[in-house]
Amino acid sequence: MEIGQTKRHQILSRNQSYHGATLGALAVSGNRKRREIYLPMMREFEHIGMPYCYRCAFDCTDNCYNCGQQYAAELERAIEAADGKAAGFIFEPMSGATLGAVTPPPGYLQAVAGICHRHGVLLIADEVMTGMGRTGQNFAVDHWQAAPDILITAKGISSGYAPLGAVIASKKVVDALAAGSGAFLHGFTYNAHPISVAAGRAVLRRIRSQNLVHVADSGAEGTAGSALKKALESLRDVDAVGEVRGLGMLWGVEFVADKKTKAPFPQEKNFSNLVGQACLRRGLLVYPMQGSVDGVAGDHLLIAPPAVITADEIAWAVDQLRAAIEQCM
Ligand SMILES: Cc1ncc(COP(=O)(O)O)c(C=O)c1O
Repeated sequence: MEIGQTKRHQILSRNQSYHGATLGALAVSGNRKRREIYLPMMREFEHIGMPYCYRCAFDCTDNCYNCGQQYAAELERAIEAADGKAAGFIFEPMSGATLGAVTPPPGYLQAVAGICHRHGVLLIADEVMTGMGRTGQNFAVDHWQAAPDILITAKGISSGYAPLGAVIASKKVVDALAAGSGAFLHGFTYNAHPISVAAGRAVLRRIRSQNLVHVADSGAEGTAGSALKKALESLRDVDAVGEVRGLGMLWGVEFVADKKTKAPFPQEKNFSNLVGQACLRRGLLVYPMQGSVDGVAGDHLLIAPPAVITADEIAWAVDQLRAAIEQCM
């Protein structure tokens, strides 16, 4: 509208994703269970496949570089099929709860960014879960040098002490509004709420003064991120653990009934939830989910401790997690 492209109204997105519980956010989400009951009320746009290397649909031997390019090409086909109506593409740079900390294969996000750019489609990064240092960079897109036009962040922005989220727009987007209507006609009662914003400022100061983005970096020496990575990766020898994956302070553990075939547990067993309950009884909070295989089957859980966690606390937490998994097998 602001630049006269009134035909563009579709937002493309990916399967196995989650962007929120309002009708608009659910419509672009791919999380089957969370959107199922609202389906008749939803506006449907195209969802494309997403690379998931542990269960790669291609027979690849190159760390998923080539199949990453094929998934990116799927976006290009969806944009072309939208016939000039695609306005944006929303994605989680690293998946959150739905798949459990799955990282994109090398080259994929760069290719996606290039495709959006070529077609004049806004690249919208949902960093509600991954932003504000959670993955060991300010934002997860920084790991893959993909510069979004719009970035959404929340959760860590106030470290959960107050409800706060932010939409960060690039100069291109801001300039389009400024040169168009000159206004952003989209408001809520609690926009820029002073208490929430004050909590966000305090958290940002603390992130900077304690260098917490670096502390969260799992690729750096002697950080909480690297200690967490090492401790969690030790779980790979547990029979029911199919994969441990993640970055920084955001990790996923995927469970399997058979390590070789990667067959999941029967859905009715609700294995991740059993592990979550066993963890809770031991004083450990994790985020259990189902649906990693196809949106319904498959169990995984998400681990996302604060960057101020100590090495002793990490060791204790991972011991509890191991014991909880073994207890449920
Ligand atoms: C990646 C992602 N996007 C969006 C949301 C929705 O955020 P909210 O529940 O604050 O609307 C979530 C919530 O968990 C999320 O993980």
